[in-house]
Amino acid sequence: MKTDFLDATDRSLSIAADYLNKQEVVAFPTETVYGLGADATSEAAVSKIFEAKGRPADNPLIVHVHDPQQINHYVTEIPAMAQKLINAFMPGPFTIILRSNGKVASTVTAGLDTVAIRIPDHPISRALIREAKLPLAAPSANISGKPSPTTAKHVLKDLNGRIAGIIDGGATGVGLESTVVDVTGDIPVILRPGGITKQQIEKVIGSVELADALKADQPKSPGMKYNHYEPDAPLYLIKGDQAFFQKQINYFQAQGKKVGVIASQPLVDRLKADICYRCGDINNLSEVAAKLYFALRYFNDTDADIILAETYPNREIGEAIMNRLEKAATNHLKQNI
Ligand code: TXA
Ligand code: MG
Repeated sequence: MKTDFLDATDRSLSIAADYLNKQEVVAFPTETVYGLGADATSEAAVSKIFEAKGRPADNPLIVHVHDPQQINHYVTEIPAMAQKLINAFMPGPFTIILRSNGKVASTVTAGLDTVAIRIPDHPISRALIREAKLPLAAPSANISGKPSPTTAKHVLKDLNGRIAGIIDGGATGVGLESTVVDVTGDIPVILRPGGITKQQIEKVIGSVELADALKADQPKSPGMKYNHYEPDAPLYLIKGDQAFFQKQINYFQAQGKKVGVIASQPLVDRLKADICYRCGDINNLSEVAAKLYFALRYFNDTDADIILAETYPNREIGEAIMNRLEKAATNHLKQNI
């Protein structure tokens, strides 16, 4: 299959909408990461998403709509607390889990009785949903297990020849995926930290729980049990000061390894390694978030044998950054224990 590389003009949008109405899959930019969209009401179209990504069938997808009114079409009810969250954060980097009324394809929800819904805060994604007149099931547009794509080039690298088209809307803004919140239980639970922080949510509905993906025996969000965001080289997280970090670099270099570093300024400029990636500034964690997936993908084009990454304070957007970094590192750590 030839992948149609489209710019962000009206004509491109109508070509992409045509593909979607012919049950094909199309990648498009959102404010978080690029998504891989298909008609959420069509089993045939949705199955092409799973196929293109190599995604396990038991990991459900988020349904993207362009306006809050549309949420009603796919859920049994919107409880008061959910309505407050919708009013506060949608459109935005926020996904809400509600009870499904069964109108979306069962492959979208992976057979669950709940459905994840999001309204992207990006003119291209919303225009595309409007033009196609479809709810779009859309996971991140990467091969399963790889870092999510924040540019059209990243998408092509993973999915060229496997999807009908891609709309290039430049680099995404937030750079990490949406916050996923489940409001179907007794207490609201953040299943995945993301662009909207726990503090922001608590200002609207009071205290919420954070599901710990790495510790939970029974993951509440099916996606949490899979490996994610892995660069090709093993990634280690360094918790310590500059001197400690340098010592780790020296230790691996002494073994003949080419050491890559992902760190923010000013630390990154003070370390001596083989390849350093400047991941924003420590005083601006949103910038670190926006650059994180660039950093992970950057090292796949280098000959680094190992990547050492700085760690960040576990608050505000730092929570989402650390969640992704820990997942990117987990599997390699397990292998080394
Ligand atoms: O920012 C984002 O959310 C991006 C853009 C493209 O919108 N999408 C995204 O989709 O990150 P994906 O498929 O990579 O991640 C969706 C997450 C997975 O962890 C999945 O398990 C969870 O949401 N999820 C989806 N439906 C669910 C449901 N009904 N119950 C619990 N978790 C659900
Ligand atoms: Mg993903």
